[in-house]
Amino acid sequence: MRNPYNFTRPAQEYAFLGGRDRELNEIKYYINLNRNGNNYHLALQGNRALGKTSLLNVVQNLYRNEQDMLIVRMDLNVDLVTSEYLFFREIFSSIIDEGLKRGFYLSPSKLDHPDRPKKFLHDHNAPLFFHEFKRDGTIDEKLLFPDAYINAAKQNKFDLPIPQPIVIEGFRTLIKSFSQRGTKVIILLLDECDLLSKNTALIQKQRNIIDSLSGYMYILSGTNRMFPEMDKIFSPFRRQFMTIKIDKFAHLSQAMECVRKPLEAHEKSLFDDETIGRIFSLSNGMPYKINMLCHFMYEHKGLEGQNNCHITEEILKKFKEQLSRS
Ligand SMILES: Nc1ncnc2c1ncn2[C@@H]1O[C@H](COP(=O)(O)OP(=O)(O)OP(=O)(O)O)[C@@H](O)[C@H]1O
Ligand SMILES: [Mg+2]
Repeated sequence: MRNPYNFTRPAQEYAFLGGRDRELNEIKYYINLNRNGNNYHLALQGNRALGKTSLLNVVQNLYRNEQDMLIVRMDLNVDLVTSEYLFFREIFSSIIDEGLKRGFYLSPSKLDHPDRPKKFLHDHNAPLFFHEFKRDGTIDEKLLFPDAYINAAKQNKFDLPIPQPIVIEGFRTLIKSFSQRGTKVIILLLDECDLLSKNTALIQKQRNIIDSLSGYMYILSGTNRMFPEMDKIFSPFRRQFMTIKIDKFAHLSQAMECVRKPLEAHEKSLFDDETIGRIFSLSNGMPYKINMLCHFMYEHKGLEGQNNCHITEEILKKFKEQLSRS
C-alpha cells in the first residue's frame, strides 16, 4: 500500500518536489557560479509551509555526491543561536563530519570505529575529536577553535563572544584542507534562519566572515523575519544575499506538476485537469494544502476502489478539519 502524498513531511527528492523548477534552477545557477570561483550567497525567503525546507532537502540530495563541492546542512535551533561557541562548533563539526563521510580524514573502515570523533558532535568531548583530526596529519595547522571551545566549556562560559580571528582561522583552515582534495566550494545550507535575528552579535560576526572568506556559499532559509527591516546591523547582512522568493503557486501549471509528479506512470491520469483546477483554487496555491487534499483523495480512491480521484464532500470536510488543527 502506498500514498505518494505526504503532507506531514517536507519533500526529500526531486521526484516529489512539484512546481518549483524556476526557484530550483535559480539556486543551481548560483551554485554553479560558486563552483567556478564567483562568490554568491542565497536567502530563500517565504512564508511558513511554502516549501523552503523541501527545496533545501532537494538541493542537498541533488549535490550530495558531487566531488567538487561539499554540501553541509544545519537546522538552527534556539540553543545554537544563543551561543557563538555552540553555533560555530556546529558549523565546523558539520563540515568535518561531511569530510569524514567522504573518507577525507580517516579511512572508511575506521568510520564505524567506536572512537570515531563523531562524539564531538553530541557532547562536549571536543579534545577527542580534534586529537583524531590532527593525528591524521591532513591538517598541518592547528585549529585555534577547539582550544577556545574547550576553555569555554571548562569555565562554563559559552555565553561569551568568540574572538573573530579564531573563527575566521577555522573557516580558512578547513577550506584549505578540503580544496587540496578537490573541493571548490563548501555549501552551508542553514534552515530556520529566523532564529538568527535573535542574536545580532552573531549576525555581525557572520557578516564579517562572509566578507573576508571565499570558498564558502551560504544558502539560508527563513521567513521575512530572517532579516528584520530597518535595522542597521541587518541591512548590510541582507545585502550579502541574493534573495530567492518562495511564493504560493501563481500558475495552474505548478499545481498540475505538484499533483501529477509523485504519481507512477500508470497513475498519471488519476486527476483530470478540471479537478486539478479545483484543487488549485481550494488550496489557494499552497503546496502544503495541495499535498493534503491529494493525500485524502488518493486514500479515498483506494478505499472506494475507484479509477479516478475526485473531490467529495467527505474529503472537503476532512481537509477543513485537518487545516483547523494545523
Ligand atoms: N514543491 C512542493 N511539492 C510538493 N509538496 C510540497 C512542496 N513544497 C511544500 N510541500 C509540502 O508542504 C509541506 C510544507 O513544506 P516545507 O516543510 O518544506 O515548508 P517550509 O517553508 O519549510 O515551512 P516552515 O517555514 O514551517 O518550516 C511539506 O510537508 C510538503 O508536504
Ligand atoms: Mg521548514
